[in-house]
Amino acid sequence: MTLKKQLEDLRDRAIKNIDSTLTLNDLNQIRVEILGKKGPMTEVLRGMKDLSASERPVVGSYANEIRDVITEKIEKKKIFLEAVKLNQTLKEEKIDVTLSGKKVPQGVRHVLSQTLNEIEDIFLGMGYEIIEGYEVEKDYYNFERMNIPKEHPARDMQDTFYITDDVLLRTHTSPVQARTMEVHDFSRGPLRMISPGKVFRRDTDDATHSHQFNQVEGLVVDKGITMGDLKGTLEVMVKKMFGQERKIRLRPSYFPFTEPSVEVDVSCFKCGGTGCNVCKHTGWIEILGAGMVHPNVLEMSGIDSNEYSGFAFGLGAERVAMLRYGINDIRHFYQNDFRFLEQFKIKE
Ligand code: DAH
Repeated sequence: MTLKKQLEDLRDRAIKNIDSTLTLNDLNQIRVEILGKKGPMTEVLRGMKDLSASERPVVGSYANEIRDVITEKIEKKKIFLEAVKLNQTLKEEKIDVTLSGKKVPQGVRHVLSQTLNEIEDIFLGMGYEIIEGYEVEKDYYNFERMNIPKEHPARDMQDTFYITDDVLLRTHTSPVQARTMEVHDFSRGPLRMISPGKVFRRDTDDATHSHQFNQVEGLVVDKGITMGDLKGTLEVMVKKMFGQERKIRLRPSYFPFTEPSVEVDVSCFKCGGTGCNVCKHTGWIEILGAGMVHPNVLEMSGIDSNEYSGFAFGLGAERVAMLRYGINDIRHFYQNDFRFLEQFKIKE
């Protein structure tokens, strides 16, 4: 058989094999077998040394041509098989983005936290600082510095959990007033703070009493602070919390740490003031205690009460939330019943 015929045979066999291959692996094997060092192509080329000088270039270029044909055929088949493989992979790994996903249950911020956050935002917007006090407090700050000396009858108003004779669980957030006043540097500007946090009382838990609840204390001290400032500030807060149409009213009251002291009512948001079961047919709902900081309290904190004056208020966070959402039992806040908590989805 002539070399030329050998080459043509080789080409035809190669093309047939390449055409019938189904995998990249097989294709690679064919390439090695035919074009590799030990393959028939190399053998044919080796046989060229026996040819005459005039035949050699003719057969040589023919051999190259055939090798190129085979190489090209392999390359084309390779591209084809790769595409087939990719298609198959894509088909197997197909993701159906229209399938509904697994639902991850989303939590809800506790209604009390929501309420406290809202109150904080209102006062931050008015330039107040938020101060954190101590839940475990000294009798001295909780009572004495708030103008409630030992044997003062007002101590009975707040049944206290004592830890030692001098240390207790704070019964209100008011001690934060004293702690803030004694360190405030008035050369930096007026004192404007609120202090939200837990307070504790030896109450028997029922629908309206809890041995632990949350208050928000407020305090502003500067030169020339008046009751008008107090009323204006509370009006802003009440309107934001309960609605722009709400009015407030101040009633004389008594707290040892304020003089004069007031109780603050908001016009009933259910009936608008005409009288209903929520406001007990009075048109008004009591929401907080407040007053002008007692001169004794200022003086005990090292502030000259002739030069400075201030207002303070204390508000119960649970009470605000109960009124806003019509919650009729304070114990709901602490029982962690999902059915209760989930109702308060926020629009954050
Ligand atoms: N500390 C009072 C309480 O717990 C609430 C209160 C009333 C705070 C009047 C004040 C205030 O700052 O001015 O019952």
